[in-house]
Amino acid sequence: MKKEQIENIKKIYQLKIKKFKKYNKLYYQDSNPIIDDSEYDILKSEIIDLENKYSFLSSKESPTVIVGYKPSKNFKKVKHKVAMLSLNNVFDREDLINFEKKILNFLSLKSDFEISYSAEPKIDGISASLFYKNGKFIQGLSRGDGIQGEDITENLNTIKDIPKFLKGKNIPSEIDIRGEVFIQNSDFMNLKEKFANPRNAASGSLRQKNPEKTKKIPLKFIAYTFGFTKNLLALNQFEFLKNLKEWGFKVNKYNRLIKGIDNLIQNHSDLQEIRNKIDFDIDGIVYKINEFNLQKRLGFVANAPRWAVAHKFSSNKSISKILKIEIQVGRTGALTPVAKIKPVNIGGVLVSNASLHNEDEIDRKDIRVGDVVTVERAGDVIPRVLSVDLKKRDKNNKKFNFPKKCPSCGSLTAKDFNNITKKFDAVRRCINDGYDCEKMSIEKIKHFVSKEAFNIDGFGKRIVEKFWDLKLIRYPQDIFNLNYGKISKLEGWGKLSVANLKYSIEEKKNISLSRFIYSIGIRHIGQESAKLLSKNLVNSKSFFNLTQKKNFNELLNIDGIGETQIKSLQNFFSNEKNLFVLDRLKACLNITNEEIISKIGKLSEKTFMFTGKLNGISRAEAKSLVEKNSGKIISNVSQKLDFLVIGDNPTTRKINEAKDLNIKVISQSELLKMIDVKDF
Ligand code: IVH
Repeated sequence: MKKEQIENIKKIYQLKIKKFKKYNKLYYQDSNPIIDDSEYDILKSEIIDLENKYSFLSSKESPTVIVGYKPSKNFKKVKHKVAMLSLNNVFDREDLINFEKKILNFLSLKSDFEISYSAEPKIDGISASLFYKNGKFIQGLSRGDGIQGEDITENLNTIKDIPKFLKGKNIPSEIDIRGEVFIQNSDFMNLKEKFANPRNAASGSLRQKNPEKTKKIPLKFIAYTFGFTKNLLALNQFEFLKNLKEWGFKVNKYNRLIKGIDNLIQNHSDLQEIRNKIDFDIDGIVYKINEFNLQKRLGFVANAPRWAVAHKFSSNKSISKILKIEIQVGRTGALTPVAKIKPVNIGGVLVSNASLHNEDEIDRKDIRVGDVVTVERAGDVIPRVLSVDLKKRDKNNKKFNFPKKCPSCGSLTAKDFNNITKKFDAVRRCINDGYDCEKMSIEKIKHFVSKEAFNIDGFGKRIVEKFWDLKLIRYPQDIFNLNYGKISKLEGWGKLSVANLKYSIEEKKNISLSRFIYSIGIRHIGQESAKLLSKNLVNSKSFFNLTQKKNFNELLNIDGIGETQIKSLQNFFSNEKNLFVLDRLKACLNITNEEIISKIGKLSEKTFMFTGKLNGISRAEAKSLVEKNSGKIISNVSQKLDFLVIGDNPTTRKINEAKDLNIKVISQSELLKMIDVKDF
């Protein structure tokens, strides 16, 4: 290569590094990203690609070396007394019906029971938690990671909507008031140059090091819930919202108390219609079960409440044309049709791929290559084809024939039968299990190295593909036994990049059990289920012991793990290739025990089992009550069992077995008494 050419490449590289450094600072230090994530990722991979291609390029500031700017150290970290959780999302009527059904089941209520919901617009701002003692504002925290926030009291103090003293009656002696800090759209107009959107502007100003600067930005605050509290008198959310107003907070004027799914949907579409006329950004409606006693009974799964959900608004749409339909094979074998569309700008992002979901969706909407379609892009979700304009259809457009064989390995495909809905799934899958299908294997490895899994720096999707093509990897464990000699001979792999890669891989050999479980990509075991499993299993030994088990029903006792997950675990552990992968990974990793925050509850160290039908309480709720009080559920009568709880029509055999082993047999009300819960 000519010297001149080399200089030129170096210049381009340096410019990109400079840009990268600037965006990092804006993102991590100033909370003010001026580009969106996809643009940032493109820049990052451009730099990595250049380094891979030209071994003479390197920089201390390269994304292969640094992870990002250290988060600003200016704010003290403080633990939230009650965690700040997130919300699960629903998108349509069906999701909403399911949400309500689950609640009624859990509470063992009849299907015609009418639940009252507090329906509150979901403001797209930054949440904050304000601690008041005897009515005086003491400390304000940002959400942080939900467990620990940053002390931003001084900055919050500059916000006029945040009362320094509460006024009125029934003020609890201690309370964390939680709500959203945001900027009104009209005020944002004047800040447009500095921030990408109102949310960034709010976040940036809230985390200013100098409160004087925060003061200049017209931040607003709307209150909507509480965390830790002592002596709160309100019995339901709507009463609490009324309290908030009396105490001097602003609450959302569009909050409504609503019964019935139809009315919730009506309210959702009414608000969606006036959404653009409201002076702040809302991205959906939060529904909360109004009664606090029901909320308490429902509790939480993983990091979201069972008693609340966010009903998101649909967002930007555009018209385009389908050029081609491609079938992608996912890591679980799902065949996902993707429409390659004529590139179109939707809400500032150029979209050229849109999901068609599955075979049924294509059939139902009769989507064909050449069709003019409406494409929707909502938040970070992959854009999707919403509908076809049949009037614009060319008569030559042929019906799309969905392939019946896997486009990657040629295996047969099938649709699973869902035992709960008694219907076949809409998704068609390659029947080849796991690592016998090339595309599935590649996707599994991509998942394995991804951010939420092993999170191996610099080992992105493209590297997986490249290493796969070069036969450097076939299974996840190959990552830990890479042929670095071969890699360093590849074009574009300098000493530094090889050393960096080696370092990032070595570093990740220590992994927590929950991350490990998530990483191996068992179908239906996402981050939440992996956490629940690892908490219950405690160490990797008991996880690997599952390979020898035929019956996984014991795990059904975990609140949040159901039949679907159990079946999937069974499937996973019955596959020889999976066992081979597990065995090899076990040999090269150090899997650390799940950190368990030990809680001493009324039922600590005690085990329970249920038989017969309970009264006024579902099995799920009884289970969750036992776990809330640090007890454990088991599913066999054995020496390990402390209490057998009997309901109506119990299995006599179980009672006899328990009596033989001197296990205490108790009634539902005796159990409830043990944990000071009044009878249902
Ligand atoms: S209640 C467990 N109410 O939405 C209850 N949240 O994804 C969780 N939000 O971090 C919070 N408006 O920032 C609640 N009326 C409202 C809300 C609201 C906006 C935000 C909040 C939270 C996120 C949950």
